Amino acid sequence: MNNFRRNITLLTAFLICGPVPALPQQSGFGLEVPQSLESTGFLRFIVPRFSLKTGIKIEIQAADPEAVFSTESGTPIMEGLGQNYYLQVFRTDSTRGKSAQRFADWLGSDVGGRTIEQFTIDGVSVFTAIDSGPEVETATVFTGDAVRGEAYSYTNCGRCHVIGEANRMKGIGSTPSFALLRALPDWEERFITFFVRIPHPAITQLEGVSEPFDPARPPTIAPLMLTVDDLDDILSFVSTVEPADLGAPLIVH
Ligand code: HEC
Repeated sequence: MNNFRRNITLLTAFLICGPVPALPQQSGFGLEVPQSLESTGFLRFIVPRFSLKTGIKIEIQAADPEAVFSTESGTPIMEGLGQNYYLQVFRTDSTRGKSAQRFADWLGSDVGGRTIEQFTIDGVSVFTAIDSGPEVETATVFTGDAVRGEAYSYTNCGRCHVIGEANRMKGIGSTPSFALLRALPDWEERFITFFVRIPHPAITQLEGVSEPFDPARPPTIAPLMLTVDDLDDILSFVSTVEPADLGAPLIVH
């Protein structure tokens, strides 16, 4: 279905029955990761970025995985922590295997390589992509529906954030406005990953990406359940928000 028709369908579905998952359900796949890699937090960094764009959910340490990261065999992906890491994909003729292959292809692409190298611990880059080819700077193109993103933001994020004129007096004072966040050079990164940034994890689930809420600590307010397409729409909307004039540089933690 083309984007326009999809958006109309989405909008119709949205008007009739509220938010619906927009991406056709993509087949997820299982990924095995060595402990040395998992403990770095690298997966928490890389997986949402891949899942966000593709709608493919990755089940870390699933039984019988379609893809295995190891320091021994497979396609070389990156080096760091004193060794090389390889990825091996199995059963590429199955739908889950095909999803795993997309992950492998993405990691091997320029964009994937740059993403690998953006992972830092204490501000220091940890991995170098192997064979990622020459660096090519490409501007991000936002493909979501900004109008829907705006409506979504007012309804869901506007409980705490000032989104724009229409809720200027309604945000929570200590919460940064969207215009302020938009003025930060890394606003895009912050929005793509907002659901893992405090305070959101306690109340937010990105479908197919977030772990379920800890049953022992259920959200204390109505939770935000959003899909990858919702987030895409939010990003498209935020890209149109006029950045606040910060005057002096400002640091948001
Ligand atoms: C329950 C209140 C609440 C809701 C609802 C909420 N936020 Fe936030 N958000 C906050 C607070 C508080 C901060 C500031 C956290 C800080 O400075 O440490 C924040 C910060 C952020 C940041 C910057 C994070 C960072 O680490 O730089 C982004 C981006 C963001 N929110 C996006 C969103 C989006 C998108 C939504 C809606 C889908 C949303 N928020 C919904 C309370 C909320």
